[in-house]
Amino acid sequence: MYRTHTCGELNLDHVNIDVTLSGWVQRSRDHGGMTFIDLRDRYGITQLFFDLDTDRELCGKARELGREFVVQATGKVRERSNKNPRMATGDIEIEVRSLKVLNASVLPPFTIEDETDGGEELRMKFRYLDLRRNPMKRNLKLRHRMAVEIRKYLDEQDFIEIETPVMIKSTPEGARDFVVPSRMNRGEFYALPQSPQLFKQLLMVGGYDKYFQIVKCFRDEDLRADRQPEFTQVDCEMAFAGQEDVLNTFEGLAKHLFQKVKSISFNGPFPRLTFSEAIERYGTDKPDIRFGMELVEITDYVGGHNFQVFDSAGYTGGICANGCASYTRKQIDWLTEFVKRPQIGAKGLVYVKYNEDGTIKSSVDKFYDEKAIRKWIEIFRARPGDMLLIMAGDRVPTQEALSELRLEMSRQLQLVGENDFAPLWVVDFPLFEWDEETQRLYAKHHPFTSPRPEDIPLLDTAPLDVRANAYDMVINGVEIGGGSVRIHNEHLQKKMFEKLGFTDEQARRQFGFLMEAFRYGAPPHAGVAFGFDRWVAVFAGCSTIRDVIAFPKNNSGRDLMIDAPSGLAPEQLKELGIRIDENGK
Ligand code: AMO
Repeated sequence: MYRTHTCGELNLDHVNIDVTLSGWVQRSRDHGGMTFIDLRDRYGITQLFFDLDTDRELCGKARELGREFVVQATGKVRERSNKNPRMATGDIEIEVRSLKVLNASVLPPFTIEDETDGGEELRMKFRYLDLRRNPMKRNLKLRHRMAVEIRKYLDEQDFIEIETPVMIKSTPEGARDFVVPSRMNRGEFYALPQSPQLFKQLLMVGGYDKYFQIVKCFRDEDLRADRQPEFTQVDCEMAFAGQEDVLNTFEGLAKHLFQKVKSISFNGPFPRLTFSEAIERYGTDKPDIRFGMELVEITDYVGGHNFQVFDSAGYTGGICANGCASYTRKQIDWLTEFVKRPQIGAKGLVYVKYNEDGTIKSSVDKFYDEKAIRKWIEIFRARPGDMLLIMAGDRVPTQEALSELRLEMSRQLQLVGENDFAPLWVVDFPLFEWDEETQRLYAKHHPFTSPRPEDIPLLDTAPLDVRANAYDMVINGVEIGGGSVRIHNEHLQKKMFEKLGFTDEQARRQFGFLMEAFRYGAPPHAGVAFGFDRWVAVFAGCSTIRDVIAFPKNNSGRDLMIDAPSGLAPEQLKELGIRIDENGK
């Protein structure tokens, strides 16, 4: 037997009993004739005690142990004279009688502590060591707990989990596919699924009216803190169901998770915002509604003062930062540089300080008299002590830049607490978006999303005004999931492909099997998929999903630990019929 107890469970109730523990050496300390070793396993840390006077040889052996050695220790539990209230086992220690080294360890490249000295790249290269740290253990435990609760809830609701294939044909979710060459079918390739979208729709045709799957998805796209090339979805679909059924069922799932995992109850329905309302009020389709500071448009109140920047802009608007009239020149300059960063792309920032004493100071005093500016103050409903931060330009990019500024100000003003959560639904997304570069329409969600029935007549006349039966769940400004009511009618689906610029032949080649299935009695259906990694990260309070994935890839899509991707041996390439173009490396 390697152990009788774990390193996290012993307390004063166990005093005087004999125990055996196994684990890793966290650290050792010598105090004259006494040696202390912190022994760590998945469950916690327990202090081992060795006394030089009692057993000189054993104590010597203990002193030779290095960090991360794997050892087994047997001894008696005793009350500690010097208790540590910060540790679960801090009231006791083990008076060790026998010690066995199960395995030695070379010196780890970074310290296995909550606050480690290892940078992220190093921690990813030695991920198995990083996984020994408490923050990682907490995150992976949370991830497991959430997966268990998701399965419990959906099982209760009669959903069944069905696996779908990983080697498939391209699915259109808007990213590039990862592809796998086929040895048996030379010159042909499988694509890895960007999501199980088509299969879950086929499962509806197959009669499995409530499906879910916790499933890996693969997308070859530019990576960010909330994007990995392989990530996990909680993928769901329901037949004989419309938008309300999906929103109610999965709002229920979200409430269940909040309750079971975070002990937070939400009474009443989640707020719903239409897409256009979200853009108007927050400048983004994934608003963080934990705080106000909403965007206010003043386009109609700025013209005719010879201020070229505002006169030539399609949109002028801003936010009211409460209590910020005291911001210094330096702070305002910093904000101006912040919005000018290439990722945000604003040209500049105008400020209006509404001082505590009621006076006004702005960066556009040259152009606007006090009366004009007081009008803005009134529209913004600013109070003495506030500062308006205003931008102008094309409507959409200016709203997006204001959204970033709003988030930055919420950080500076510390407007949100660690345990504040604000979920909502964003609904009525547009069906299409226009791509300037290729001069064509793209599906905003995916090509199987149904238009709102009342907007179908606009498909030919004003396609960009057509709203979709599509929705996203957003928590704390993170898009946690999205879905839609699907087209289940062959003719409408054909029309949609036509609008998206697919020829009949292209549509048939890529999605012929779905169109064929729709001819055999496809039920009305709708669904949603949640980004599981993102949901766990939001619950864990992590700013990147890498921290909630056991073995993530870095921002260049590399796994630094196993060194992937990597080249293939010439024989393998030959077998696959693939030649690497050395020039195109
Ligand atoms: P969508 O493309 O919106 O919808 O994806 C659903 C959710 O998956 C998460 N997500 C990601 N998470 C991490 N890394 C990525 N690269 C990544 N890409 C997406 C997001 C997103 O909201 N088949 C449809 C769903 C449906 O219509 O039912 C789909 O995949 O949280």
